[in-house]
Parts: sequence; C-alpha cells; structure tokens
Amino acid sequence: MARILITSAIPYINGIKHLGNLVGSQLPADLYARYCRAMGDEVLFLCATDEHGTPAELAAAKAGEAVADYCARMWQVQKDLADGFRLSFDMYGRSSSPQNHALTQHFAGRLAEAGLIEEVIESQVYSNADGRFLPDRYIEGTCPNCAYDKARGDQCENCTKQLDPTDLIEPRSAISGSTDLEVRETRHLYLRQRSLRDQLADWIESKKDWPILTTSIAKKWLNDGDGLQDRGITRDLDWGIPVKKGPEDWPGMEGKVFYVWFDAPIEYIASAKEWSDARGGDDAEWERWWRTDKGADDVKYVQFMGKDNVPFHTLSFPATIIGSGEPWKLVDYIKSFNYLNYDGGQFSTSQGRGVFMDQALDILPADYWRWWLLSHAPENSDSEFTWDNFQTSVNKDLADVLGNFVSRVTKFCRSKFGEEVPTGGSWGADEDALIAKLDTGLKAYQRDMEAIEIRKASNELRALWVAGNEYLQNAAPWSVFKEDPEKAGAQIRLALNLIRVYAVISAPFIPDAAAKMLSAMNTLDTEWPNDMKAALTALPDAHAFSVPDVLFAKISDEDRETWETKFSGTRD
Ligand code: MF3
Ligand code: ZN
Repeated sequence: MARILITSAIPYINGIKHLGNLVGSQLPADLYARYCRAMGDEVLFLCATDEHGTPAELAAAKAGEAVADYCARMWQVQKDLADGFRLSFDMYGRSSSPQNHALTQHFAGRLAEAGLIEEVIESQVYSNADGRFLPDRYIEGTCPNCAYDKARGDQCENCTKQLDPTDLIEPRSAISGSTDLEVRETRHLYLRQRSLRDQLADWIESKKDWPILTTSIAKKWLNDGDGLQDRGITRDLDWGIPVKKGPEDWPGMEGKVFYVWFDAPIEYIASAKEWSDARGGDDAEWERWWRTDKGADDVKYVQFMGKDNVPFHTLSFPATIIGSGEPWKLVDYIKSFNYLNYDGGQFSTSQGRGVFMDQALDILPADYWRWWLLSHAPENSDSEFTWDNFQTSVNKDLADVLGNFVSRVTKFCRSKFGEEVPTGGSWGADEDALIAKLDTGLKAYQRDMEAIEIRKASNELRALWVAGNEYLQNAAPWSVFKEDPEKAGAQIRLALNLIRVYAVISAPFIPDAAAKMLSAMNTLDTEWPNDMKAALTALPDAHAFSVPDVLFAKISDEDRETWETKFSGTRD
C-alpha cells in the first residue's frame, strides 16, 4: 500500500474563490486524492486558508471587522464551500494556527543558525495618516514614463514599466489617499537563497518526469536575469506570525511579522499537525508524513497549484526546507495549471468577473461543475468556460450518456423483471467483446489518473460510459425480450452490474452521482474492477435494487440564457 501526501495551494482568505481558482488546485487535488484512496493507498490530503498579508488586513478593514474575526469567519465560509464541492480534505487548516506560528518560527531559527539569514536595513515608504509602512503596490502616483495617474509603486498598469515607489510623481497612499508619506529606515530579514542555488538547480534537474509547465517556470526563475534572488521574509505589519527564532525573541525585529509567502507553504506541514492534534494524536502521527527520519521516506508527496504559484514551490519553499538542514520531506511531483478564462476574458476576483464558488452551487449541484471543470482542466494551455460549452458537456456526457444508461437499464428491468437482478441466461460474444473493451479502457484510464493527466483521464472515462451505451443499443434487450427473455435478463444483469462499476470508477470525478448509483444498486461494494469479468457479476442473483431519481437534469436553452445574462456583469 503506497502512502501519498497531497496538498493543494492554500487559498487566500480574502473573498470567495472563482471557478478558475478551484480548477487550478483544489479540485484536481481532490480528484487525485479520491483516486489514490480508491486504489487502496493511504492518503493524507491537506489544505488550509492563507490568512496573512496586507490584502487580508484591508479586506477586514473594509468589512469593518477585526482581522482575526474576519479570518475566522471567512475560514468557515471557504470551508463550507469546499464541503459543498465535496473536496475531501483530511484537514482544512489555517495558516494563522498556533501550529503554524511555532513551525514558521522554528524554520526561521534553523535558517539563522545555518547562516542563511541576513539582516538588511532598508528604506521604505511610511504613511503617517495610515500609521503603517506601505507595500509598494499600495503606493499610487503618476507614472514618470507615461503620465498615467494611477500607477502603482511596483509597476505602471498602463505602460507596464516596472517602478520603484520613489519613481512616482506625487505619490499617495492607495489605502487612504494621503500624501503625508515619508521614507523611513526599517530592518528586515533576507533568506540567502542564492547560496542554495546549485542545490536547487540539481534538485529540479533531477525531476525528469515533472510537467514542462512546472520545470520551465522553475528554470526561468533560476536562470533569468541575475538568477535566483535573496528574498525578504519579513514585513512591517501587525497581522502575521511574529518574527522569532524558534521560541526566542529576535532582537531588532520586535513588532515585525514574517512575509505571507514565507509562512504559507509551511502551513502544509502545520496543517498535518493541526490534523493529528484535532484527532488527539501525537507528533509521530503527522511526522510520519513529513519527516524522512520518522517514516516519511516512503511517502510520495504531490502538490497541486496554478502556474503563478510555481516559483514559490520549486524554489522558495524548497530553499526553506533544504536550508533548515533537517530531514523534512521535499515534494516529489508538482502538478501545475494554466488559467481558466471566462467567456472571452479573464476570471477576476478584484473585478468580480466570472462564476464564484458560492454562485455555482446556488444554481447546480457540485458534480455538474466538477465534471465540466475537470474535463476541461487548463493543463497544456489556458482553457475557457462558456455557457454553451458547459451546457453541451453536461447534457451530452452526463445526461445523455451516463444518466441515460442508468435510467434505461433500471427502468427496463423494473418493467420486465421487477426491481431485482435477473437470473438465468448466459453471455456470448457481444458480452466478451464489451468486457475486453472495458478492460482496455479502464487500464488507459488508470494510466492517465496515475500520471495526473486529467483531461485524458476524463476522455477515457467518458469512453467507458459510451461503450456501455453502445452495448445496450446493440444488444437491445427490449427486442430480445420478446423472443428470449432469459437472454434479455442476462444482458440486463450485466448492465446493472456495469452501473456499480461506473459508480466506482467515476466517483473521483462525480462523487455524489456515484453515491446515488451505488445506493440504487443497493450495495456497499466499492471494490475497484481490476478483474472486469468478476466485477460484472458482483451483484448476486435476485439482488434487490431501486430505480434512482434522474441523475443529471439537462440544462435547457432557457437556463443557459438566464445564467449567461446573470453572470455577464460583475458581482458586487
Ligand atoms: N494563497 C496563494 C494563492 O492563492 C497560494 C499559497 S500556496 C502556499 O495564490 F504554498 F503558500 F501555501
Ligand atoms: Zn506608465
């Protein structure tokens, strides 16, 4: 039995995520976790909310809440939506947890002992009116290059020129608008990533099987321009993890916190501790997933994320881990994603453009979204959500192919044989041919799932559904029944068993429909059909079943138009 550690990039706490976020990390991670569990692997699947940083502070202020209260509330909102989409995390933690405080401070202490931390005095813009230092992108002013009057301190959106806050003409605080700004000196910690460059390059070079999207981004950051830069890991903010060396104070760093991108990936480890703590377990329980000296050497660790997250996972976080000199588990495989676009443009959280997780579940059950999103995952290029495509995919794949198979078979059986598996009759060449086809198709499906080739896997799964439909169409038990009811019974017995098989193999994509199919087949048998022929005789003769309600309702043109209009603007 393999042991698989799976993490999804942890979503920022501020605001509800859109479907593009969902398909870029949490949903494919869930697909893989469910598949590995079905294979009998021991899985630990972790996620959390990413709670620190200026955006969280500002969102809380906007909501008129203390930031800790805001985060606690939004954690619950995001957790409920994750449950709504059936994301099967073993732990949905919080980067603000005491566990993460302790671990983050521990790593910083280890890095300091290893001589990998440098203290640097920097000049930064301080806003007297806001009573805080301003991150570069929260300073606005006129661009010296193009005179655009809303240029940000890090970049001008209009002419794309990279800027320093001091380049701006008439700079002001983007938070309050105040121009009462001054430059102050402040001390910060830098992680000397440069000195780990060769180790990181060797490690990335050794990952021959990683997706090109992942390694190309990693190599670009390693080699472009001046190469890997040392990186500031502290900030002058109130909300965050206080800068300490392990449990000890860090002289000169009082009142400062770690940078959100330093503590967020450490939460992958901390959430494992949150998980074992919540179960009343001891440290050995989570350390066997994370410490190679405590059993994690046989763990396979797989991460899921959008492409913008790749540099942090291929360079920064590994630098933290390697630099600590301790035997922490490094990631074995990074699955990264391009972007999902929305109807001719981009999904945008700041502009409220697209469909957000709460809105999606308000209009249709999770499986409809899961199927479309996963079967259109932006793996090799960006992909696009359109209502038309969504309607087609749901109506064809889910309603016409899978749903129709289940409904035809169960209803026909009920009308001719009653609600129990028919006995008697035997299989012939057609059934053997179908079994062979299913067998080959299932192997291809498994290969794709193991390789986390999600679109390919969804195509294989759809092909398996189609094969059952074609068999049914050709076998035509409704005609055979008139001449040879026993033979029709044997055909339907196979088809009923196939419903159970479909439930088992489709569950990673559409868990709710799979559960309905199993319950209609009145069985708890979720064994994977490694032996297809045996699997197609799993339901005992005369076994009682029931006809399920419609599995997937078709999306009407009217629905599609309504939603298209409803979601064409931006949310408030
Ligand atoms: N919150 C980040 C984002 O949504 C992802 C953080 S992943 C972690 O882009 F590594 F920091 F945990
Ligand atoms: Zn400009």
